Amino acid sequence: MKFDVLVIGSGAAGLSLALSLPKHLQIAVLSKGELKEGSTWYAQGGIAAVLDDADSIEAHVEDTLAAGGGLCHRDAVEFTVKNSKAAIDWLIDLGVDFTREQQGYHLTREGGHSHRRIIHSADATGKAVHTSLADAAHASTNIEVFTNHLAVNLCREADPIEHNYRCTGAYVFNRERDEVELFSAKIVVLATGGASKVYLYTSNPDGASGDGIAMAWRAGCRVANMEFNQFHPTCLYHPNAKSYLVTEALRGEGAKLRLPDGSRFMHRFHERAELAPRDVVARAIDHEMKRLGSDCVYLDISHKPRAFLEQHFPTAMSRCAQFGIDIASEGIPVVPAAHYTCGGIMVDHRGATDLNCLYAIGECSFTGLHGANRMASNSLLECIVYAHSAARDIAARIDTLPEPQTAPAWDASRVTDSDEDVVISHNWDELRRFMWDYVGIVRTHKRLERATHRIKLLQKEIEEYYSHYKVSNDLIELRNLAMVAELIIRSASLRQESRGLHYSLDYPEATAVAKDTVIVPPNFAGQQVIVAIDKGRR
Ligand code: FAD
Ligand code: SIN
Repeated sequence: MKFDVLVIGSGAAGLSLALSLPKHLQIAVLSKGELKEGSTWYAQGGIAAVLDDADSIEAHVEDTLAAGGGLCHRDAVEFTVKNSKAAIDWLIDLGVDFTREQQGYHLTREGGHSHRRIIHSADATGKAVHTSLADAAHASTNIEVFTNHLAVNLCREADPIEHNYRCTGAYVFNRERDEVELFSAKIVVLATGGASKVYLYTSNPDGASGDGIAMAWRAGCRVANMEFNQFHPTCLYHPNAKSYLVTEALRGEGAKLRLPDGSRFMHRFHERAELAPRDVVARAIDHEMKRLGSDCVYLDISHKPRAFLEQHFPTAMSRCAQFGIDIASEGIPVVPAAHYTCGGIMVDHRGATDLNCLYAIGECSFTGLHGANRMASNSLLECIVYAHSAARDIAARIDTLPEPQTAPAWDASRVTDSDEDVVISHNWDELRRFMWDYVGIVRTHKRLERATHRIKLLQKEIEEYYSHYKVSNDLIELRNLAMVAELIIRSASLRQESRGLHYSLDYPEATAVAKDTVIVPPNFAGQQVIVAIDKGRR
């Protein structure tokens, strides 16, 4: 199959890009499951943007830098924040139904923000955004959507003009037909989301297996800051509640965190108490749970009138009610869980990667915006801003690009083995458990050494199956998870300090100079994008 642009991923990043490209281009958008099955659909709190006269670009920039623990790239932060209003206007034009109040839109607040600047659609912002994007994509005659199509590997060919390599498409597993197909394109865009599924407990949907990061790495792109996986402080703790996140906007509207005896504790950890940056809150909860041997802490918004909660948090209210919890009269049991991948594929302001004709946008990318800890609600913003800048760059160059050569056919001689399922599911469990235990919220040198040992053994086994087993969804995801786990462990081992989301008992202080952890693949693609200039680091 041949297209002008192949977009791998149908979340906020992928769909926004597809919709922003010129209409004469033929675009394929892939989704490995249903169209909506990415993190975007589940986003709750909202999108951070400077929309109010009392707020300012400078304040949003400063808050982001402060949350990022000295590692944000000021250029990337300024670029994103300056484009925030345009991004929201674009969504409003598309029909996104943000919550209104008498004077315009209601803005809520979340951790790390010094102003109310989160525009939202009650507590189901992702659903509202994704619905509008998906409706527009379906109505566009130049966009073809392929659901249940899982990209396995990228194709790259030598580029005689640029004297380096160029991305020319991807091998894609068609889950319905159970076979691998070749998608060729002049430009490929990775918009595959994050990798939090590498941890046992996560707020993310099942597909967050870091496929784009692993594919880009294998194709020769550098990755950066993979040690900074964000743990959301408040996911519902209940045996039957799989991955349900309780939005930070609750704390923005006054919810308090309490220990099992009802006492508050966050003021002991940060002057902003419940509205401290997320890394601080998650670590404080982890610390208190371990200190007391308790299974969870409680998030309490019961002081607010029921009518207010029904208006602002209908989803949280009804989801908790399903488990017998009435948030208007009692605390919600919560625990931290892996939530967001701050590191990723290195890109510049255009979303361009080290491999010519390959772009990466959204959670799979590393733009320099988030530093050592993403500030709440900056990620959907990043998806839209970089989707637009990548689309502008692609539009400006695509007509000058030659057609790709035909890539070699996929080797279909692999076999199915009766042991395959049990081995794959065992390795999935083992990987996610040791990542949780050894590379979680609090790390030590010894734990990282153990994880290094385990991941080497697992990767060897997985590569063996991969070379002769017929590909399946689970095998492809497991292989990618193992790759991403290795990158996280390597990055965490290289960072001999504590900063933001990376906390080590062996190195409890931050070093004087903040540096990114950049890992270069053995088959480096050679284009070397300049990732936003580091000037102004603090
Ligand atoms: P996603 O929306 O995750 O989409 C990834 C897409 O890639 C999917 O379509 C998937 O099918 C596809 N894909 C992946 N791998 C492959 C493959 N191999 N082949 C084909 N397709 C593939 N951020 C905020 O700013 N505000 C919030 O309020 C907020 N709330 C959140 C709440 C929850 C519960 C979660 C999980 C996240 C939240 N986030 C929030 C984070 C934010 O939702 C994500 O960072 C953002 O949606 C990522 O968008 P994306 O387009 O990069 O990826
Ligand atoms: C939330 O609603 O708490 C999630 C916000 C985010 O991850 O940005």
